[in-house]
Amino acid sequence: MREYDSVRLKESLSSAALWVEQELDQIFTNQKSISRLPLFAAYSLGSGGKRIRPFLVRAACCATGGNPDRALHAACAVEMIHTYSLIHDDLPAMDNDDLRRGKPTLHKTCGENQALLAGDLLLVEAFGVLLRTPLGPGRVAGMVRHLASAAGPGYLVGGQYMDMYHPAEADMDWIRLMIKGKSAALIRVSLELGALAGGADDGLISEVSIEGDRLGYLFQLTDDILDIRGSTFEMGKKVSKDSDLGKCNPVTKLGLDAAVSEAEELSYDIAGAFSGLSGNWEEISSLALYLPDRRK
Ligand code: IPE
Ligand code: IPE
Ligand code: MG
Ligand code: MG
Ligand code: MG
Repeated sequence: MREYDSVRLKESLSSAALWVEQELDQIFTNQKSISRLPLFAAYSLGSGGKRIRPFLVRAACCATGGNPDRALHAACAVEMIHTYSLIHDDLPAMDNDDLRRGKPTLHKTCGENQALLAGDLLLVEAFGVLLRTPLGPGRVAGMVRHLASAAGPGYLVGGQYMDMYHPAEADMDWIRLMIKGKSAALIRVSLELGALAGGADDGLISEVSIEGDRLGYLFQLTDDILDIRGSTFEMGKKVSKDSDLGKCNPVTKLGLDAAVSEAEELSYDIAGAFSGLSGNWEEISSLALYLPDRRK
């Protein structure tokens, strides 16, 4: 049995969501602009979402003994980059989705050209927000470096490219590399930024990075599983689309049963590894144990 305190985890996830949403609202309320783009960005940002990445930023900051206020701007920045990546991911030129977070995708409400630009806005503004972190310039510069790398060509953007242009004979090594880029990097960097805000040293950050990558792989693995066995209502996005789109992922490659077994095993493994790190990583271990059960 994968045992974790599900009530406590649910409470932590909801309170992290509230925490980050209050600040995101501040950022986008009364913002002066020469265009309507902030309104469009706010539509996507404010349309819900599980806020898993802000939860990870906050939990990693607390795990390393930091005051979560120090990690708030990092949490906003990561959620803004995540939301931009979803807006672009949903465009007809990419996955062509009409539903996201239970609402019409942004391009369905304002058109593709404006959705593209609203995504650009979120990507750039994320770094502006991160720079407001109330820590010393050396620490903040380190955070910017980590986030720029995770969002850049070596990870998120490069991984999204791989997702669209997979070789005919893509094997699991190739698939792991794609996932490491397109989804795991943002999960990993959420933990890294939280740990940096908490004052973790380089040794601990390296350990967190390794486990963050594995947690990110597990997260995408469960997303791919839910594309087969989840519901559009619970997921807030269309399901049963990956094989129609010809996607190459662990489920289309290995089959559903093998993917489910991998998720179960990995979940135990990651939870155990976080428990062994210095600090109190219980919230993250619980999340790892919960992921194979998630329905949204
Ligand atoms: C969706 O991420 C994209 C993936 C990396 C699978 P989430 O499942 O975290 O989406 P939201 O933020 O809750 O909408
Ligand atoms: C998500 O992969 C990766 C990014 C958004 C960067 P998916 O394409 O599987 O995500 P969903 O299923 O549309 O949320
Ligand atoms: Mg995609
Ligand atoms: Mg998609
Ligand atoms: Mg998916």
